Amino acid sequence: MMDIQTQKIEALIGEMTLEEKIGQLQQRGPSLVGAFEVSFEELLDMMFDGRISQEEFGKLMSTAEQDFHEEELRAGKVGSYNGVGDARTANRLQKIAVDETRLGIPLLFGYDVIHGFRTVTPIPLAESCAWDPELWQRTARMSAEEATAAGIHMTFAPMVDVAKDARWGRVSEGAGEDTLLNGDYGAAKVQGFQGENLAKADAMVACLKHFAAYGAGEAGKDYNRVDMSLQRLWEEYLPAYKACIDAGARAVMPAFNDLNGVPCTVNEWLLRDVLRDEWGFEGITVSDANAIAECVNHGVAADRQAAAKEALQAGIDMDMTSNVYAENLAGLIQSGEIAEDLLDQAVYRILKLKAELGLFENPYRTDEEKEKHTLVRPEYRALAREAATKSMVLLKNEAVLPLNSQQKIAIFGELANDSGQMTGAWAIGARGEDCVSLVQALDAQGIDYAYHPGIVDGILAIAEINQLAETADVVIVAIGEQKEESGEAASKADISLPAIQLELAETLLRTGKPVVVVLFNGRPLAIPTIAEQVPAILEAWHPGIEAGNAILDILYGVVNPSAKLTTTFPHATGQCPLYYDHIATGRPGGKSKFTSKYLDTPLEPLYPFGYGLSYTTFTYSGLQVETAEDAVRLSVTVKNSGNREGEEIVQCYVQDKVAKRARPVKQLKAYQKVLLQPGESITMEFAVLFEKLGYYNQKMDYNLEAGEFTFFVGGNSRDTLSETIDLSFG
Ligand code: GLC
Repeated sequence: MMDIQTQKIEALIGEMTLEEKIGQLQQRGPSLVGAFEVSFEELLDMMFDGRISQEEFGKLMSTAEQDFHEEELRAGKVGSYNGVGDARTANRLQKIAVDETRLGIPLLFGYDVIHGFRTVTPIPLAESCAWDPELWQRTARMSAEEATAAGIHMTFAPMVDVAKDARWGRVSEGAGEDTLLNGDYGAAKVQGFQGENLAKADAMVACLKHFAAYGAGEAGKDYNRVDMSLQRLWEEYLPAYKACIDAGARAVMPAFNDLNGVPCTVNEWLLRDVLRDEWGFEGITVSDANAIAECVNHGVAADRQAAAKEALQAGIDMDMTSNVYAENLAGLIQSGEIAEDLLDQAVYRILKLKAELGLFENPYRTDEEKEKHTLVRPEYRALAREAATKSMVLLKNEAVLPLNSQQKIAIFGELANDSGQMTGAWAIGARGEDCVSLVQALDAQGIDYAYHPGIVDGILAIAEINQLAETADVVIVAIGEQKEESGEAASKADISLPAIQLELAETLLRTGKPVVVVLFNGRPLAIPTIAEQVPAILEAWHPGIEAGNAILDILYGVVNPSAKLTTTFPHATGQCPLYYDHIATGRPGGKSKFTSKYLDTPLEPLYPFGYGLSYTTFTYSGLQVETAEDAVRLSVTVKNSGNREGEEIVQCYVQDKVAKRARPVKQLKAYQKVLLQPGESITMEFAVLFEKLGYYNQKMDYNLEAGEFTFFVGGNSRDTLSETIDLSFG
């Protein structure tokens, strides 16, 4: 017996014309039209390849208007928008859909709310370093409250693309290199975005992305091929997406890349066999921007019509801005090339999601008044500041930090004085002017300081640097990356610092003053010189709206840093991809010549996965490992051996010593964060289910193989206690 909602949707589909059905699959973006002859996309290319300057581009944009294709909307040819981020516009368009189309089907508004909407939080890679699902959920809930107040129904997030190659710019958008952390991060975000009931006005649909394995692009090059064994795909990449589906994500965005030669956008095995048949996903799929059309570029579709056919057959419900469905589906169905039922199934899922959001009964979930009173609330800023302090990783500290208020400080580096850069990549709903830079925070807190960019027009201002440093007790230098250097289409062949930034740091080191480097970046950086020569290094990432205040909280010890890296830092770009859960090989890297290593680079990473310092110290003892029923149970004593309270992220790794396929030397299987007072000890317990210790054999059977397993527990993936036990799984 069909439930009422299904009956209503089926009845509605029965009334719809072919055009109206296809209209529901069309996600439009506002086009920019203005006093320029070329298309907006061409204009963008002209700016990126330098044919016009950013100023000229800005001037042209100032004349541009947004075209929302209202006539298409009135004709019932638009089911959704991407990129409408304010209540006034959303309600205006919704009113056209509800009052001026034949059937009054409400619109679905999607937007990239990746790490906050207007209250921008640290980039996901930063926030993942908190190892804190409760925090991740809270920040997602906040961004859902803000974004839905601005008329948004669905976010194209969380992104849980496991990323092991720091050359890839989009490593900034996920939870780093580890499978378990990406899954936990994504599940927490899904729960935070969607809340308990999608029909609530502040519930926002989570559109999990990018399905699948987008982070494994060859050579870290964006959009590049992904070619891997099914064993590795199922063991290291798919589980993070599965965790989000299990958490209830109601939408999925396939990835731009191909997977073993078949683009995800037209990959029926991925979108139907795995996602729907095996995982039971019943929500909608939304293509990535223009991705259906790009199947022609991939060379798997002869033309746009073929791309439309392949995408619908593979299971793409909604076409994001390529227009390929709008142009071709009617003809394909009328010619009998594809069955109308395939279209009806996609329409059904889209209408069902709109019904779950309550849009048929309440198409206007917000208004301008609500929006005004919701955006950037003080409590949101406070949460963004908390998230930022929990995301910043103390990489080195030779008795320089925390600072004290008597010290005179001199600050160098334009990144210390650029609030716009604090948003990081994919912060399209944020405003730079809302963000607090490091210099602005010093002003706001009345802390005496001297500031100089250090580099002026690409030249080191050595005289000014030395003069200013002379007056200071401690010197802070802000270096790293602009936000445009990470995110989409931002892969790099060299992830070391620009030479002039190194020169700035070395100039300051030569003054003999204690130097603190604050890194602003969206990916791991190869910083061996900084790591060797600078006594204190804080990894701040792109920390969001409360950047400056959070950095000062850490520098002055108001907050004791507790974050740990979720992505490995290499000595050199040439080590990429570099990650902790590698396999041993037949000749594990070591001192003797004929082993797996580089002649010109150290074997170990600069900073290992899971690494991060505190202003206190922690010691581990008494690791015990035993089996019970269906799990391995571990206990370990952790002590705060320092003189101030602090949080420690205790990590539990495992190695299957012998199996039919080579297994990673370490895999994260559990972690817990614990707050300890000075001198306090605690015995912590972990359980690792037997089922989490298996792997796929060559026949793709998932099996648990008896034998020796080593368990590692520690404050990072390198410095651990370990015990080896024999598991029979009996
Ligand atoms: C982009 C990105 C995707 C984003 C989408 C919509 O190309 O790949 O992550 O959600 O377009 O803006």
